[in-house]
Amino acid sequence: MTSSSKGPVALITGAGSGIGLACARRFAAAGYRLALLDIDPKAVEAACAALRDSGTEALPFVGSVADETAVESAVDAAEQDLGPIELLINSAGVASNKPTFELSLADWERVVSINLTGTFLVSRIVGAKMAARSRGVILNLGSMFGTVAAPRRAGYCGTKAGVDMLGRVLAIEWAEHGIRVNTIAPGYVRTPFVDDLIAEGRMDEPALLGRTPLKRMAAPEEIADLAIFLASDAAAFITGQTIGIDGGWTAYGYV
Ligand SMILES: NC(=O)c1ccc[n+]([C@@H]2O[C@H](COP(=O)([O-])OP(=O)(O)OC[C@H]3O[C@@H](n4cnc5c(N)ncnc54)[C@H](O)[C@@H]3O)[C@@H](O)[C@H]2O)c1
Repeated sequence: MTSSSKGPVALITGAGSGIGLACARRFAAAGYRLALLDIDPKAVEAACAALRDSGTEALPFVGSVADETAVESAVDAAEQDLGPIELLINSAGVASNKPTFELSLADWERVVSINLTGTFLVSRIVGAKMAARSRGVILNLGSMFGTVAAPRRAGYCGTKAGVDMLGRVLAIEWAEHGIRVNTIAPGYVRTPFVDDLIAEGRMDEPALLGRTPLKRMAAPEEIADLAIFLASDAAAFITGQTIGIDGGWTAYGYV
């Protein structure tokens, strides 16, 4: 992606923690100016304060990706203050890990609204602005669990499969508007998202490391490095793809 004299603008959702935060730091180092949207005010304000301390223009926006009015006003304010958004990273997401017989309608609707509807809403609102300028890149955070199934994760797997297909549809529909859309599908990444599941006893860390051919989790910075490549002109012919980064998990089919 080429930059304006002041550096291109990226909007990153879920940037108060984990992969979104690692992307914010990585894109700041690459000269981007940042609008960070998160539902957690303390986390997003702390992220922006730290980025500003290291010389990056970074503005915090507080709201849910599933709230159309909040997203519209954050996007309008970000463009007003920073300029045209050239890159969107949809990283906001939540886990859902319960036996399906115990998954209430409210549980289901929560994970669908944040992981799938949120990705759709922010993409549509930012995508329309990118289309008007015939330029933009959108990166979604899917998961290897959008492709392979895991028990007790009907909502999570269902939404991540939806994010995959949403990304492909937007890619082919918006190619004529100069917008590329790709989905990053990580395996296990060491973030608070995973730490919380381990702490709650809902994830067996030794078992999952044993099941991973590379025998470790990814660092969030490794996901940010893939995002940097996919956002760059080196990836100018890549669109409509779901790119795995899972230490070999989905390739593994033996005992
Ligand atoms: N960590 C992993 O192992 C892993 C693996 C595959 C995919 N992912 C995906 O990557 C993305 C980021 O995960 P992470 O590990 O960084 O999680 P995380 O919990 O560390 O960070 C998620 C951030 O999203 C924010 N958020 C939650 N709901 C929101 C909402 N409604 N609106 C705006 N912000 C909201 C949280 O406040 C938090 O700051 C998620 O979509 C997740 O599904 C994570």
